[in-house]
Amino acid sequence: MRKKIVAGNWKMNLNYSEASELIDGLNNYDNKSVELLIFPPALYLDLAQSKKGNLGLGAQNIYPADKGAFTGEISPWQLKEMGIEYCLVGHSERRSILGESNSFLKEKVDALINNGLKVVFCCGELKEERESGNQNAVVEQQLKESLFHLSETQMESVIIAYEPVWAIGTGLTASADQAEEMHAYIRSLLASKYSDHTSENTSILYGGSCKPENAKELFSKENVDGGLIGGAALKADSFLAIANSF
Ligand code: 13P
Repeated sequence: MRKKIVAGNWKMNLNYSEASELIDGLNNYDNKSVELLIFPPALYLDLAQSKKGNLGLGAQNIYPADKGAFTGEISPWQLKEMGIEYCLVGHSERRSILGESNSFLKEKVDALINNGLKVVFCCGELKEERESGNQNAVVEQQLKESLFHLSETQMESVIIAYEPVWAIGTGLTASADQAEEMHAYIRSLLASKYSDHTSENTSILYGGSCKPENAKELFSKENVDGGLIGGAALKADSFLAIANSF
């Protein structure tokens, strides 16, 4: 059976002591049925690694090379050596603000998988793409151009996060039915590209203004296996409340 996962993307938030306090507020987490992952800024990965308890830990970004002259970047090889297990790829903020293309994201996916890390691959449409009814085509293209070159075995290291861009940080949430519809579509793409087994076993998370007030309804849907949480992951009580919403 696929895993239920609630992941916190801290983005570029919190100073060192706030980050430390938040990890302390989460590291006694012991709900065995839902995995809790955190994605702190890279600066705090070492701190988080040293006191994360049962939390899973991931980086928000990598550059797709093991080492070299890439000033300011961090590598999957460095993360692996530190025991970091996960990395986000394809977040809409990196697509839109940093100009990352589907083909560059494919390189990141490969660099991570080749180093044995797990990928949380983010996809999702813009507001105007949903308004024109193109959301399925957009998500399909993102998956095909960055992810679907992987082998079926490599896909076991991938979690998909559907994050409609119009719902991120806006207070607008996709309705539970809109989320379910897209998750079921993604699952159908996995079934036709790979197999029913891969489709059934890949966790698909929802992200975009997910909070304690709406998590229960979203997570009640058959194809929603958890959430990728931004703002509501910055406080231990709201993040834990979301994890306890299944
Ligand atoms: P918010 O939960 O703040 O909308 O952010 C979602 C997100 O981008 C998680 O990666």
